[in-house]
Amino acid sequence: MPVCRRKVTVIGAGNVGATAAQRIAEAGVADVYLIDVVEGLPQGKALDLAESAPLQHHDQMIYGTNDYADTTESDVIVVTAGLARQPGMSRDDLLIKNAGIVRSVVSQAVHYSPDAIIVMVTNPLDAMVHVALETSGFPRERVIGMAGVLDSGRFRTFIAQDLGVSSSDVSAFVLGGHGDTMVPLPRLSTVAGIPLTELMKPERIEALVQRTRNGGAEVVALLKSGSAFYAPASSVLHMVDSILNDRKRVLPCAVLLRGEYKIDGLVVGVPIVLGASGVERIIEVALTEEEQAALQASAGSVRGLIETMQAAKS
Ligand code: NAI
Ligand code: 2OP
Repeated sequence: MPVCRRKVTVIGAGNVGATAAQRIAEAGVADVYLIDVVEGLPQGKALDLAESAPLQHHDQMIYGTNDYADTTESDVIVVTAGLARQPGMSRDDLLIKNAGIVRSVVSQAVHYSPDAIIVMVTNPLDAMVHVALETSGFPRERVIGMAGVLDSGRFRTFIAQDLGVSSSDVSAFVLGGHGDTMVPLPRLSTVAGIPLTELMKPERIEALVQRTRNGGAEVVALLKSGSAFYAPASSVLHMVDSILNDRKRVLPCAVLLRGEYKIDGLVVGVPIVLGASGVERIIEVALTEEEQAALQASAGSVRGLIETMQAAKS
């Protein structure tokens, strides 16, 4: 029987990248190639992770490298390379610097893995998906941003903590860009099928919506240096697992819209079916006027970032 080991390249061996590598290997989803511009960093972290394999009872390989040739024929490329947000720094401050890094790493990675699916993580997320689409030349089905899984995970956590219930029973719906304009939708969020709006007062729901929008900044303010990485790495694992095991999970992801949700030519977070070929379907739900306006505003902020990047290039 042919043996097929799946291969995931994680670019950026920092907090998110190394933790995502750990999660992917420990879940038994794929072998992982960790790559970074810093010499020794991916090799050291990969060795350390590999040495934990017998103790963690998995047999996935984890390699560290600075050479993209080693990443040849990866099934999935996870891009975390870039600068992380510091206290007082907005995601948008990262824009120009990280766009240059993403162009560089994506062009090298896709040269060796032209059939891969790209999962973008680097911030500002939605804008970096645009950069990865443009640089790779891949179809929109194969360039997908991770943000909604994290944002809805945060919303689920806050709802569960507030109601004193298991977060497993909470399903939360978040649309829009990964930023202050994201659109958590309480109307479509449930606890074991019960609409959230029947379980919580509107003021309480609004407080949790605001906390979700501020979720990344809340962690940054506590850490004082660097940003969240455990939940982001778990979010990456969910996406990679759905792709490599063709699970067809319905997950909120940042994808290029072509008229869906009345948005054309912009990357925005929406629910998709995520499977072996990447984005298999974009699920459109009817929004209220207010929700549609909030989504348009969120898309508008992504457009602003694209314009800033274009101005910086010219
Ligand atoms: P980090 O600073 O711990 O790691 C970044 C790594 O990228 C470093 O090891 C650095 O050496 C590497 N790097 C920089 N330039 C490179 C290049 N040209 N080639 C290869 N590697 C390069 O940062 P962390 O916490 O891992 O965050 C990474 C990125 O992910 C940041 O932009 C952060 O804002 C973003 N992020 C996005 C989230 C999302 O929901 N989409 C959630 C969490 C983080
Ligand atoms: C977060 O939401 C920094 O985007 C990152 O934690």
